[in-house]
Amino acid sequence: MSEANRPSPGLFISFEGIDGSGKSTQARRLFETLRDSGHDALLTREPGGSPGAEEIRALVLQGDPDRWSAETELLLFTAARRDHLERVIRPALDAGRVVICDRFADSTRMYQGRGGLRAKVDALHALMIGIEPDLTLLVDMPAEAGLARAKARATAEERFEDFGLALQQQMRDGFLALAQDHPNRFRVIDGNRAADTVAADILTTVTPHLPVCPA
Ligand code: ADP
Ligand code: TYD
Repeated sequence: MSEANRPSPGLFISFEGIDGSGKSTQARRLFETLRDSGHDALLTREPGGSPGAEEIRALVLQGDPDRWSAETELLLFTAARRDHLERVIRPALDAGRVVICDRFADSTRMYQGRGGLRAKVDALHALMIGIEPDLTLLVDMPAEAGLARAKARATAEERFEDFGLALQQQMRDGFLALAQDHPNRFRVIDGNRAADTVAADILTTVTPHLPVCPA
């Protein structure tokens, strides 16, 4: 078994979904609920999550959207993930912590994998990352609703939301197909409800997977 694939005592949870679906809101709420109930939880995000990976985040999400080819962009997202994995995720899992990550490799499969690059995405993942979350919460919602929410935010970052409704729709369909292909780790959560309702649904979904809390 490779170093990257070895089992660890922690629990690795990722949030996935289209821009504006409520991932960040729900990841934070889950983190706060777990922390307040005594779990050793860590909230992190991609692209980013470690100092080096945050620098790469600025490279891929700011500036001229055409500054990188699709292949270079894939390498940058993967480089960011490798640094985040080495310095933050793996040590936390080894220490038995609950790691909550706002986006992970499924986002690369969807966004960088489009346009015929999916095989390269999978090959690079196997070579350089080699780990999947224990649980992936897909916060699902109609593309129009996600786009409206995402557009209401003011940000300097160039997200895929800027490419419009058709891409959002394609990404939503792709995430749902990925969830069907990997039913053991994916759970589809209806994100088009009040935030409190979504949070309660997510907590019910995650609870059976949690380590026993120290008294
Ligand atoms: P993502 O991380 O998926 O892009 P965010 O959590 O940043 O999504 O949410 C996008 C926007 O929608 C934010 O302005 C947030 O306050 C709002 N929002 C999040 N969840 C809900 C919800 N359940 N109902 C209405 N608005 C929401
Ligand atoms: P994020 O900050 O999660 O955006 P949002 O809150 O709008 O969902 O991610 C920023 C953008 O980066 C988003 O449009 C998706 C994209 N992205 C990729 O293209 N590949 C990846 O591997 C990751 C992690 C994100």
